[in-house]
Amino acid sequence: MDTDRLLRELTDFLRIPSVSTNPSHNADCRAAAEWVAGELRRLGCRDVQFLASGTHPVVWGVGPEVPGAPTLLIYGHYDVQPPEPLDEWTTPPFEPTVRDGKLFARGAADDKGQVFCLLKAIEERGGRPPVNFRFLIEGEEEYGSRVLFELLRREPERTRADAVLIADMAYIAPRWPAVYTALRGLCYAEITVRTAKSDLHSGEFGGAAPNAHEELARLLGRLKTPDGKVHVPGLYASVKRPSKVELATWKRLPFREGEFLKHRVQAKALTGLKSYSVLERLWALPTFEIHGITGGFTGDGAKTVIPAEATAKVSLRLVPDQKLKAVERQLTAAVRRFAPKHVQASVKFLHGADPATVKVTHPAFKLLDQAFREVVGRGTVPARAGGSIPVVPALGKGGAPVILTGIGLPDDRLHAPNEKLDLKQLWDGIRVFGRFYELLASL
Ligand code: BES
Ligand code: MN
Ligand code: MN
Repeated sequence: MDTDRLLRELTDFLRIPSVSTNPSHNADCRAAAEWVAGELRRLGCRDVQFLASGTHPVVWGVGPEVPGAPTLLIYGHYDVQPPEPLDEWTTPPFEPTVRDGKLFARGAADDKGQVFCLLKAIEERGGRPPVNFRFLIEGEEEYGSRVLFELLRREPERTRADAVLIADMAYIAPRWPAVYTALRGLCYAEITVRTAKSDLHSGEFGGAAPNAHEELARLLGRLKTPDGKVHVPGLYASVKRPSKVELATWKRLPFREGEFLKHRVQAKALTGLKSYSVLERLWALPTFEIHGITGGFTGDGAKTVIPAEATAKVSLRLVPDQKLKAVERQLTAAVRRFAPKHVQASVKFLHGADPATVKVTHPAFKLLDQAFREVVGRGTVPARAGGSIPVVPALGKGGAPVILTGIGLPDDRLHAPNEKLDLKQLWDGIRVFGRFYELLASL
């Protein structure tokens, strides 16, 4: 394997700041799509297209036809999360840098480095394996995948395959590759509170006029109890408890709550419902998080004002068998109910996803397990993920098994400053998926 050349090529891909949520990066998203399309052409794809290119294009590719061979659909995303706060990066997010065997850049692990891994693995073993490859590499995953959803609703035949392969997650611990049986869903919203026609002088009116930030803070406080239960009426009704067998397998995973707090969270304490294990809280219970609050005065210096409007960006993670549509209704009803009469409260939904469950019984999962076993010395352990990939339920609709796996490590700092990918994980990964394709070809 020519690792110097591969590293140079991945660096070119990572240099493109394809931040999908920020319109000022539209041209960069396009450039990242072009990069992917170029790779697909180089791999011999006959048909490389930009689909639904109104926003960030979905890159579609069809590999050389191999009659009688299985069809594998590879899904991934070339978009990345915003890199802020910039001053917390040791080296800039879009200037990929290797330190201590790790490649630091936004998108190194999520998901450009992993898309790169799946593509480069196709040529790992000399020739191209006799597999009918299909590719769907999108540019809006980090923003809810709306465009791809609509595309798959119109053209469900794009997902026709014997298996779907996604590498957008991590090993469960170093040397412990995983295959994922569930992903959480997501309901992302803005809650806005208005209390008066406009801002008011806090001396003239303070003590007698309502304050939008105060009302919003109280409202948000009512949406979760201090012990960590999300206080949205009806929210837990459709939450399915993991089976006894599944809970028992989680107990045997290399996961220690104390270590998770000390080395990963790096806080003083863990929160959430104490009667559930931390893995249950991360994988099998819904959440409510506040991402940011705007409105009023937040500039430098001081200003004595009573804000008339305040907005919170919030999201709930959803678990099997919750439904996004139902949760949206429940959140709207809860906000209406908890806001006092003198306050105008509204909820706007930005994006969302249903939770996903995957049965890992199809023979293709055995092959992935074997490939990992041969290359890294241990097969895949079944686990769940706390994160979301919105289109996973849609990709599985045609009946193909959706193989959710990845080459990241738990400390890759996805969405955070100093995101990285261990190069050893990448080189191993290229060998693993190369072997997987070869095994699949003989299925
Ligand atoms: N790759 C992640 C999803 C993920 C993270 C799965 C960690 C398993 C473990 C993906 O790119 C992601 O971040 N998804 C977003 C989706 C959202 C913006 C709709 C997420 O989970 O926040
Ligand atoms: Mn991702
Ligand atoms: Mn992500």
